[in-house]
Parts: sequence; C-alpha cells; structure tokens
Amino acid sequence: MDIFRTKSVEQSIRDTEDPEHQLRKRLTALDLTVFGIGVIIGTGIFVLTGQVAKDTAGPAVALSFVVAGVVCGLAALCYAEFASTIPVAGSAYTFAFATLGEFPAWVIGWDLLLELALAAAVVAVGWSGYFASMLESIGLPLPAAVAGDNAVINLPAVIVVAILTAVLVAGIKLSSRVNLILVITKVAVVLVVIVAGLFFVKAANYTPFIPEAVSTARVEGVKAPLFQVLFGITPVAFGVLGIISAAAIVFFAFIGFDVVATAAEETITPQRDVPRGIFGSLAICTVLYVAVSLVVVGMQNYTQLSTAAPLSDAFIAVGQDWLATIISLGALAGLTTVVLVLLLGQTRVLFAMSRDGLVPRGLARVHPRFGTPARLTLVIGVVTMALAGFVSFGELAELVNIGTLFAFVVVSIGVWVLRRTRPDLPRAFRVPLVPALPILSVLACLYLMLNLPVETWLRFVVWMVLGVLVYFGYSYRHSRAGRAGTGR
Ligand code: ALA
Repeated sequence: MDIFRTKSVEQSIRDTEDPEHQLRKRLTALDLTVFGIGVIIGTGIFVLTGQVAKDTAGPAVALSFVVAGVVCGLAALCYAEFASTIPVAGSAYTFAFATLGEFPAWVIGWDLLLELALAAAVVAVGWSGYFASMLESIGLPLPAAVAGDNAVINLPAVIVVAILTAVLVAGIKLSSRVNLILVITKVAVVLVVIVAGLFFVKAANYTPFIPEAVSTARVEGVKAPLFQVLFGITPVAFGVLGIISAAAIVFFAFIGFDVVATAAEETITPQRDVPRGIFGSLAICTVLYVAVSLVVVGMQNYTQLSTAAPLSDAFIAVGQDWLATIISLGALAGLTTVVLVLLLGQTRVLFAMSRDGLVPRGLARVHPRFGTPARLTLVIGVVTMALAGFVSFGELAELVNIGTLFAFVVVSIGVWVLRRTRPDLPRAFRVPLVPALPILSVLACLYLMLNLPVETWLRFVVWMVLGVLVYFGYSYRHSRAGRAGTGR
C-alpha cells in the first residue's frame, strides 16, 4: 500500500495545460490584491471584533489582531513560495500532493472542506446579523424565531447561501470589475468607521486597555483553551492570556489570503504576482483591522459592545443611526462576496480532489448548459445551508480556525520538504531562513491552535477521523495516481 505516492510538480502543471481544462490567464498583482481583500474582510472584523472584545480581550483586541496578523504573515511567506513554484489551482491540497504524498494531500483536502464550507456558513450567519440589524433600524424587526441568537433556524443565512449557490450553478463570471466595485464599497465603509468613529472615541473607554484576567464560568470545562487544560492553568478571560486566546479567534478575520493562492493558475505572471497579491492584501487588511478595532472599543465601553453587528451598533449607541445604516449596507455587500468566493474556493478544491479520483469523479461532471460543476456546487450549497441555519456562530468560527491553522502547518512543512526533495525547481519567491522560518510558522500556528477550546479540538479530531475512514474505504482504491503509477 503506497499512501505516500505523490503527483509530480510537472504532472500538476501539465494538467493545467490540457486544452479542455485550461483556465484563462488574465489576473495581475492588483487584481489578486483586490481579490484577496474581497475574501478577507468579512465577519471577522464586522462581527467577531465585538464578541471577542466583550468576552476575551477587552480593548486590547487590537493587539490580538496584531498577533494573528504576524502568524498569518509567516504562513503567507510559505504559501507565496509554493504558489510561485507550483502555480496550480487547489492551493494547499495540490501543494501537499506534490510534496508529502496522497494521504497527506487527502487529509489537507478534507480539512479544507471543513475550512471553506464552514467559513461560508459563518460569514452567512454574520450577514444575517447585519441584515436583521438593518431591518430593525428601519422599523421592520425580524421575528425572534428566524434570526438572532435564540432563533430556531437562521432563515436569512439559509436564504443568502441558497441564492449564492444558485448564482454559482448558473455560472456567473465574477469579473474583476464587479469584484472591484464591491471591494471599494467594503473598504470605503471600513474607512468610514475609522474616520467617523474617531469623533466619538472617549479616552476613558481605553482604561483599562488590558482588563485584569478573570476566572470565568464561560471558559470552564470543554470551553477552556486546550493549552490551559494541558498545563493546568486556571481558565481565564482577559489579561495577556486573553489576548492570545482572542488572537486564535480573530484569526478568522485573516482567512482568505490563502484562497488567493488558488487563483495562481489564472495569473499572467504567477511567479511574481501571487506573492505580491498575498502580501499586499494581508498587509492592507492588518492595518485596517487594527485601526477599526481601536476605534470601536474607543467608541463604546467593551462591556457594552454588540455581538451581532458591533460596528453599526456602536454608531447607533452614539446616536448616528444614519451612519449605522450605511455601515450595515456596506457590510452586507462585503459579506456577500466573502460567502460567494469561499463557496467558489470550496468547489475548486473538491473539483481538484474529484479530478484525482479521491471523491467520486461523477461529482465533478460539468453541467452541459451552465458549464459549471453543478452537482458538486449544489451538494456544497445544501451542506452550507444546513450549517448556517442550525449551528451556533462561535462554535463554527473556531472550527474553521483550527482547520485553517492545520492547513498552514502542513503548507509550512511542505515548503521545507520541497526544498529538500526538489531543490532543482525554479522558485521565483523564496522564504528566507529555511528551515528556521517555516518551523517558526509551524510553532506559531500550533500555539494558536492550542489556544482554541477543547471542544473545538474534539470536533476537529472527529472530522479528521471520519476523513481517514473515507480515504481507506473509498479514495485509496479509486485514486487516479494509484492507477497511473506514482509521480515518484
Ligand atoms: N476572513 C473572512 C471573514 O472575516 C473569512 O469573514
């Protein structure tokens, strides 16, 4: 049994040159940066900021964004080297198949399914929060049974995923111009929050900046970070440990720069421009996040922040309802593209896995009229709707984070492995200080993972065990790499 058979880098690149599966190469560094910002800025900043400041970090949530941004920066270096060496769609799944072998690639693909479908569900739930807040601001509150924390089903979230799934099936082309318009709207709204918010900042809200650590019932038992349980530290919120725990949660806000790597195949000069797109979008978002979080905790005492729509509600709290409406509209537009692109990224990864035979190849069949993998898109859409409709928000976001951090760990290790197994490959972008920097990236990601709650780990382990069963029950025997011989 050879579960570590690889698909050679050359084979992966050859697959993209097949005339029937050739994507058009039209994107530039600027397009990629815009695309990155389009996927990155979403629920993390528009929703999680309030929740995390209130429960875990206090005004120091800005520092949590810095910590999460640095961890992502390390992983981004590794993604940039990979994408500039193997400019093929499929991101971490493809990278792992070329370096670590089929089984690790399967594990990472299975893990990405968790990341992308769940992330789409989380953002849809965030969308619903802003939608409800906007309707309320115009005097049309939604019934409690279909929106909000105690709803039976989160109806707006289900509906938005259904509409976007239909759009994806129908084969709408996300032209970079449409994306650009939505991104400009979203960034403009973020800038409005920063600039207008500055006028309402009260210095008193910054004291204490790092609230004293408290032991709280909220973080006991399976809700406690694994790190605190392993090392017998009394579970706390706030304080320095609170900042790190919060970084593990707001990490969600940065997810998406890794999706930029999936566009490598459609980039004119991927070797040069994918790294630029990844770093550009990450840097811009980090600066915006730190600024927004500083302003929002300055406007309202962190204990008062809303957890469903903190940015617009902060403006309602200072009597600027009209600004709140503008912010809600911008957030809705912005969150819509995030859900759309996450669902799109999801279909691409599953498509790649299906093309390799690891999931039924029939799933990837392209619809004759729409020209899209319609079945696969529908399956993903329905699963995402179920998640968005019935599972609570915080639980979903933390599970996405652990999945993504795990992918970062594998990609960081993969860069080092590929340097050793294929030193001959041309690398337009090279991570400095290998192996020190990839190792640092692995450690930083693991540290953030340890700061996630025990129950998140348990759910993650269950998901991965399920994946291993599927691999040995189905994928190994149906793999095309197994039939065609290995790339090694
Ligand atoms: N980074 C994206 C967001 O914050 C997933 O919504």
